[in-house]
Amino acid sequence: KEKVVEPAVLEEPMIIAHRGANDRMNEHTLLAYRIAAQDGVDSLEIDLRMTKDGELVAMHDKTIDRTTNGTGMVSDYDLKDLKNLQTIEVFNNKTNVEPIPTLRQIIETFTDTEHYYIETRLINGEAMMEDTLIEILREYDLIDKGLVIIQSFSKKSLERIKELEPNVPLTLLFSKGKFDLKEAETSEFPIIGMESMDVNIKNINALHRKGKQVHVFFNDLDTQKQEQKRINQFNVDGYFTDDISYTKELLRIE
Ligand code: G3P
Ligand code: CA
Repeated sequence: KEKVVEPAVLEEPMIIAHRGANDRMNEHTLLAYRIAAQDGVDSLEIDLRMTKDGELVAMHDKTIDRTTNGTGMVSDYDLKDLKNLQTIEVFNNKTNVEPIPTLRQIIETFTDTEHYYIETRLINGEAMMEDTLIEILREYDLIDKGLVIIQSFSKKSLERIKELEPNVPLTLLFSKGKFDLKEAETSEFPIIGMESMDVNIKNINALHRKGKQVHVFFNDLDTQKQEQKRINQFNVDGYFTDDISYTKELLRIE
């Protein structure tokens, strides 16, 4: 059984604001990202969905039911119709007057003052948002400035990104309980994202030995604090956090 913890790849773990400061404001809204930016996080996490008219918006779910006052699939709405909806503060079950932002709006708000950690998903099994995403990131020169990491559960999506932009750092995500060490160790991607349940000394050491960064996300909000405490000893390289101040406190960052 391994006892020695390998050094992290990064000197300090990255603090990534998962969906913005989603514990205090409607997730994936400009205000949620502003609060996270004010808190001094290292990166803003943005999930992407594509509207019927091909626009990229910040939204986690396939449907708008959980996070807005509307119903149905994002892909059945044109952007102008999505813009008429209000988003919901899921944590506190409140509706605030904060619209769904496009990726472009988020970038125009923060320009090069922030880093962006962007998640892509396949659409009907196909890599259909990647070309538009790269076009936007190029337009604002964010890739050359080193301000973007792209993450996905889909290798097909990451492979398409790599074809378009070989130099953007890529994170291969593994769903909770589906972590495969061999696959992660041998993958061509420099960063591995895994759920906290899959984090143990063996997995983290093995990935660090291969020079891979490990970024951890948390599916269970109730156990997130205790899980961060447990994981802190393994020198992971980044946390997608839903509680920025707790993560900073744990890492003793002022
Ligand atoms: O991107 C890391 C984490 O956000 C993955 O889980 O479902 O919250 O996008 P999810
Ligand atoms: Ca995500």
